This record gives sequence, C-alpha cells and structure tokens, in this order.
Amino acid sequence: MCGLFAYVGSVNAVPILLDGLRSVEYRGYDSAGISVITESGSIETRKRGDHKASLNNLHSAVTDDQLFGLVGIGHTRWATHGVVNHANSHPHSSVDGSISIAHNGIIENFLDIRDELLDSGVELSSETDSEVIAHLAGNYLATGHSLRDSLVKTVGQLKGNMVVIAVATSEPSKVVGLRLGNAGGIVVGKNEDSAFMASDTVALLSHTAEVVYLESGQVVEIESGSFRLFDFNGKPIEGKSVKTDQSFRAAQKGKYPDFMSKEIAEQPEAIQRAIAGRVNLVSGELEMPEITLSANQIRSIDRVLITGMGTSLHAGMFGASMIESLARIPASAENSSELRYRNPVIGSNTLIIAVTQSGETADTLAAMEYASQQGSCQIAVLEQEGSQAARIADFTLPIHAGQEIGVASTKTMIASMTTLLELSIFLARVRSVIDVDRVKQLVEQISTLPSLVASTLDRNGETSDVAKHLAKFTDLLYLGRGSQLPIALEGALKMKELAYIHAEGYPAGEMKHGVNALLGADMPTVVCAPNNHLYEKMLSNISEVKARGGEVMAIVSDSDDTLERIVDQVIRIPDCSEFLQPFLTLVPLQLLAYTTALELGRDPDQPRNLAKTVTVE
Ligand code: M6R
Repeated sequence: MCGLFAYVGSVNAVPILLDGLRSVEYRGYDSAGISVITESGSIETRKRGDHKASLNNLHSAVTDDQLFGLVGIGHTRWATHGVVNHANSHPHSSVDGSISIAHNGIIENFLDIRDELLDSGVELSSETDSEVIAHLAGNYLATGHSLRDSLVKTVGQLKGNMVVIAVATSEPSKVVGLRLGNAGGIVVGKNEDSAFMASDTVALLSHTAEVVYLESGQVVEIESGSFRLFDFNGKPIEGKSVKTDQSFRAAQKGKYPDFMSKEIAEQPEAIQRAIAGRVNLVSGELEMPEITLSANQIRSIDRVLITGMGTSLHAGMFGASMIESLARIPASAENSSELRYRNPVIGSNTLIIAVTQSGETADTLAAMEYASQQGSCQIAVLEQEGSQAARIADFTLPIHAGQEIGVASTKTMIASMTTLLELSIFLARVRSVIDVDRVKQLVEQISTLPSLVASTLDRNGETSDVAKHLAKFTDLLYLGRGSQLPIALEGALKMKELAYIHAEGYPAGEMKHGVNALLGADMPTVVCAPNNHLYEKMLSNISEVKARGGEVMAIVSDSDDTLERIVDQVIRIPDCSEFLQPFLTLVPLQLLAYTTALELGRDPDQPRNLAKTVTVE
C-alpha cells in the first residue's frame, strides 16, 4: 500500500522524487522519505514521519539543506510494522551506508530474520519489517555481489509479497527494483535522458508516454535514459510497453476544495462514460464488445460469484442482485479475503467477477488467482486497465470513471454499478431471459441515469442540515432492503471512514433479531426507503425504530407523501424505476458522510489510517 518512486537522470533528482511521491501519496501518507546518491558518491537520506504533514515537511527539509543528486528513490508509507515516526520511515539503510531501500509489502518471516540479524550483532534502528532488506542486501554487497544480485538473493530469503527499490554506493548511476508476488505494482518508464519507477502509472504521466509493468519474479535496473529487465536468474527479459492513458492528467482539484467533492460531482459524467459504447440508444441494444464468450459459453454459466473488498464489494452486491433478478443466474457477492481462504467450490461453469477499481487489491488478486486455478472464467470490472487484475482476468470491463484520487471511493462505485447493471442485461439477453423490447426499455432507462444523478446532486443542500445533526452522535445505524442493502452498507462505510463515527449498515429485516436492543434517542437511523416493492416492509421497520425512541432520517422518492409525516427528516431523490434507485440513494449518503466529515474537521481526501490501494492483506 505504500507509494514508491525512483529517478535516474541528468538533473537534480530531489524535486522529481518529491513530485513523484505527491502522485503516489494516496497509497499511504504516514511518512515520506527519499535517498539520493550525492556527487561525492555517498547516499544521503531525508525522511519525515509526521502523518499527513510528512511530505510537506520533507519538502521544506530538503529545500533548506539544498540536497542534490542525480539518482534517487522515494517512499510514502502506510504503516504495517511499527508506529508512525521518523525511525520507521523509509528509506532504510544498511549499517555501513552502502545501500538504501524502500519497500512495499509485508515480510512474513520478518521476526526470524530479525532475530538472526540481532544474533549476528546488527543493530536495528527501526521496528519495521522492511529494514531487514537493507541489512541482508548490504551483506551481499559487502561480499562483492552486484546490487541486482544482492536484492534477488535477499528476497530469496524472504516470505511474502513485495516490491523493493534500492540504490547502492557501489553502482551510483542506477536504481534497481524488483517485484515478488502481488504487493502492488511497479511501473517503469524512460525518456531521452532519464528513467523512472513508480507504484502507479499516474506518477509517470508527465515523464513518459509508455510504461512497462514489472511482473512478479522480475527485476529491473534503470539508468539515465534506459532500463533493462531480468528474471531472478539473471536472464534478460523483453518488457512489454504499454501506452499510458494521458487523460489521467485531469487529476486536479480544479474549482473544488478537495478531490472527494470533485469526484462526487463527477458522477453523472462517470456514468455517461460507463454507458458509452455499450448502451446503444439507436438500436436499443446493450453491447458488450469486451466479452467475447460465445452464446453457448454464456448459457453454460450456472453460477456467478462476485468478489471485491470494501466499496467494491458493495458495488458487487448490487451487481449480484441485478444478475440474479435480470439474467436469472444464481449470483452472490463475497468478500475476497474470505473467499480466498475458504476453499470454495467453484469450477468451469462458475463465472467469477472481480470488482476492483485499482486492480491491485491484494485479497482480490489472491481470490482471482484461486479462481484461475479452478478453471473459472473471470471478468474484472475495474478502472485501472494496466493493473494486475486485468492481467489475471479473461475479460476486463473498464468502468471509465476517470482517475479517483480521494481515498473514499465514490465515482468508481457508481461507475462499477453501472457496468454491472449493463453486464446483467447483456447476460440476460444472450441467455434469452429477456426479449428485445425489454432490453430496449432498460437501455432507455439507463440512458436517463446521468441526468437523474445530476438532479440528485443538485439537491445537495438537503443533506447539510442532516449532516450537522448526525455529527453530534457517536453511533449511527443505516438500514436497507433488497438492492438498497448494499447502499446502506456503503453509507455506513463512508460515514465511518470519513467522519470517524461508528455506523452500522444492516438489513432492515434483521433488526428484530438483536439490533433493536440498541435503539434509542442516542442512535439515529438512516434509512434507504424509496418507493419500491419493499416500501411497505421498510415502513414497518421505520415505525419500529420510531416506537423505540429512535430518530429516523429517510431517503425517499419525490412522490412519497407518507414518510415525511413519520420520520424526523427526509432527503428526496427523483422518482425513477426501481432498478435505478440504488444509484440515486447512494448520492445523498456520500454527501452526508462528506459533509459530516467537514463538520467535524476531518480531511475527506485522506482519512486517518487508510490508503487508497490496499496491496497487503
Ligand atoms: O481498488 P479496489 O476497488 O479493489 O479497492 C477496494 C477497497 O479498498 C475500496 O473500495 C475501499 O473500501 C474504498 N476506497 C473505501 O471508500
């Protein structure tokens, strides 16, 4: 989950490293640090472990002392081993200062290695697992090995998934990077007189138009204007160049105070892009050119299992309910971290759909690897088309939401939901479960989604008072039923991660089975209650909460004139067909969490203890 950046070139590496780290800071912001090889050939390291201020403080520190070098590495940390402080910040160096490394991932046998190092008299200066890499590789360097061999031999002693980048005084004109397993990616690029490595393509966009993604078991050496790839046995490899999507450059806040409000506001466009090329209003068809399975192959699917984590899992839950109800295929959604370890029965007739905006979430990738071994066909619903998930899946369905910078997912959820809805119509049509007229009707309805979401966003003001009120509480309950359940779960997740208020998402029908005991004036309930086939049921649940002294805030349809007489506050969404309602109820829940977070003085873009891409399990 940490961010890495490396540079070799003809100008001072320091500002380039800091700039690169800014682009990957969303992966972790507990600390920031850089190491550069100075003109005298020694390694100079500067780091700051000041939580979110780290990168700014590092910037001031290196500017003040005019650090200079043409070769360097940088790191932004999401803490796994060891508290957030200066000592635990990366890069880490060997005792003799011959090597400096930055690491992303977890070393599972770190305690054993650490004990061996301590027994051999090495004094460790941090609590991190990462530091052992510097000492082990330093030992190999001391016995005459090259930097590349030293790193490969070192990771040969380690268990776990990781990416490591390093500089050494013995080879002052290069940076070496390697990847072992699925601990997030490492991307390599070059231009005429420089070369770069980064955790994410977005950090290289201003430097190069083509990148190479390092695979597990590969190591790369970058030098001024060039790079070379090898396998762990030292055999040279031809890297496959991929053109970068320069539209990612648009990742600027513009007129918005933060990325989250910008990304919430961008949701109508995100949906529009997710339907472009699929929803054909002229023919009334739903096209899915990315899926080249034959009709027979699609008909032979006897089960759909959707997997993902966090917000992507919630999008997947919505997708499962759509696939089951429209395409009539048994479908469920499951957390990848559970799926990967429970030895599930899946096979060649199971369609696995992985939902992952980054395509780099460790648990989701592991679940996908497992499914590949079982011979299941896999579709990845994702934003990052060059990601690891895209390489594992048989088919990818890009969501085209555009780069999401805010740690809290918003537009990628709505675009994933749109894509899954389209997929369910596509599957239903190919399996002849619905006819041409029904597809036409659904296509027409989906095409109204961007304007429906835009008009829901326009009512933004309605959530402000509710948010101010909710900010006073320490516990909240979110209820939904059917396709509104994943939305209630997502609303609660957003409130937890942004406002740090404890919030539970629950199926409304489950309340009587225990949770009712919590009801009272000290815990407001937010309900997703648009006009749908479960409305009457929700009404009963709402009455039960009210009868026990609980306050209720309800998201209701415009035409609803009942709930405003029963609940304490309503937030209205436009009337629309039932299968589009989850898209609309989602929006006020995002706004509620965002506004409550601001009310409490939280930073909506960088919530504490989190990172955008979770590349460790
Ligand atoms: O990149 P992914 O979609 O695989 O990420 C999965 C989760 O980490 C992510 O959805 C997370 O729950 C959200 N950023 C929370 O807002």
